[in-house]
Amino acid sequence: MTQSTRTPIPDPDAPSDDRSFSHVLVQDFQAVRRTSLALCSPLEPEDFVIQSMADASPAKWHLAHTTWFFEVMVLAPALAIGPLRPGWHVLFNSYYEALGARHPRPRRGLVTRPALDEVLAYRQEVEGRVLELLASKTATPRTLEMLELGLNHEQQHQELLVTDLKHLLFQNPLKPAWRTLPEAGSTAAEPLQWIEWPAAGTVEIGHQGDGFAYDNEGPRHRQWLEPFALATRPVSQGEFLAFIEDGGYREPRLWLSDGWDAVQREGWEAPLYWTCDGGCWRQFTVAGMRDIDPAEPACHLSHYEADAYARWAGARLPTEAEWETLASKHFGAAADADRLQPSPSGNWGEVWEWTASAYAPYPGFRAAPGAEGEYNGKFMSGQMVLRGGSCASPPGHVRPTYRNFFPPSARWQFAGLRLAR
Ligand SMILES: [Fe+2]
Repeated sequence: MTQSTRTPIPDPDAPSDDRSFSHVLVQDFQAVRRTSLALCSPLEPEDFVIQSMADASPAKWHLAHTTWFFEVMVLAPALAIGPLRPGWHVLFNSYYEALGARHPRPRRGLVTRPALDEVLAYRQEVEGRVLELLASKTATPRTLEMLELGLNHEQQHQELLVTDLKHLLFQNPLKPAWRTLPEAGSTAAEPLQWIEWPAAGTVEIGHQGDGFAYDNEGPRHRQWLEPFALATRPVSQGEFLAFIEDGGYREPRLWLSDGWDAVQREGWEAPLYWTCDGGCWRQFTVAGMRDIDPAEPACHLSHYEADAYARWAGARLPTEAEWETLASKHFGAAADADRLQPSPSGNWGEVWEWTASAYAPYPGFRAAPGAEGEYNGKFMSGQMVLRGGSCASPPGHVRPTYRNFFPPSARWQFAGLRLAR
């Protein structure tokens, strides 16, 4: 369920007369669809099919699944049509129980057919039908709301496409590049300072007002905050290296119990994608291997590593209420994303920032009935909230109320931390 307020919705089944909104959606739709293909343009045919782990999906699957979403959420209800590709729903339904059976997620990499060309033709057909629907001026506010959800959904998958490809190519001993990056700077990170929230009191957090938001960002509600302070920037790679060199990965007292279990079981000694070669720390990026830049925000951390670092640093992770309260007042605009490597910045939007908050419903939250309600609400168990967006988040996709969520052991996202105390 979304809380789109671009369109007033008096009767969800009457044809929309908001033509300016439809016009914006046509442009947004075309731009978002082009971006997914542009992200894939440097790939080789083999890159599209392989799945490197159960949590990741092949690029071809992302291209097909985001298209399937428009077919079942927009076209099928609006046009009352049957499946455009009989049999494909099982392959490209991700987790929607209301929409039927699904191919197991860990086996997506075994789906060599339909071939990439067939998936690209499917994308074109669905795009054509969506544009015809918008041109017909018969789309209802309900249809437009689902289209807007589909656009935001595809943007989420664009970031996953990047993180899944990065994980895939890291498995290759050649550590291949698939994008270029600007030369890394050699400057030091800005000195870490603190933004104080000096007086205890009640704040309001959560989405309200104009613009798209996911259902999990509301309802807006009150929270009590004790006095706290938040760092002016995320923890840098240089600072995280000091944690490593101080034995942080060998000191169980710094770790949550589940985190220490993960360190032992997985043999973690550094963030994902870091390697130490003859005392020289390097990292895998979308442009291949490069030296650690001490000024860059540390990323590819699990919640456990972020939490252990914060404890080592004499601080803690912020709650999401603390983060949102200061982000909305002091952080300015999010960093311009889509660079695919975090750059030194005192702003937000370089790396997702793990919070100390479990992903749970806000007071008064109710998931919508049907498939739409499965988007966010049913995952509110066993995951932690991340805030802020990353260098791989599509431009304009994030906002201060945005709640991302992953299991605490996940490391393949562009996730770091900002200290609180
Ligand atoms: Fe999805």
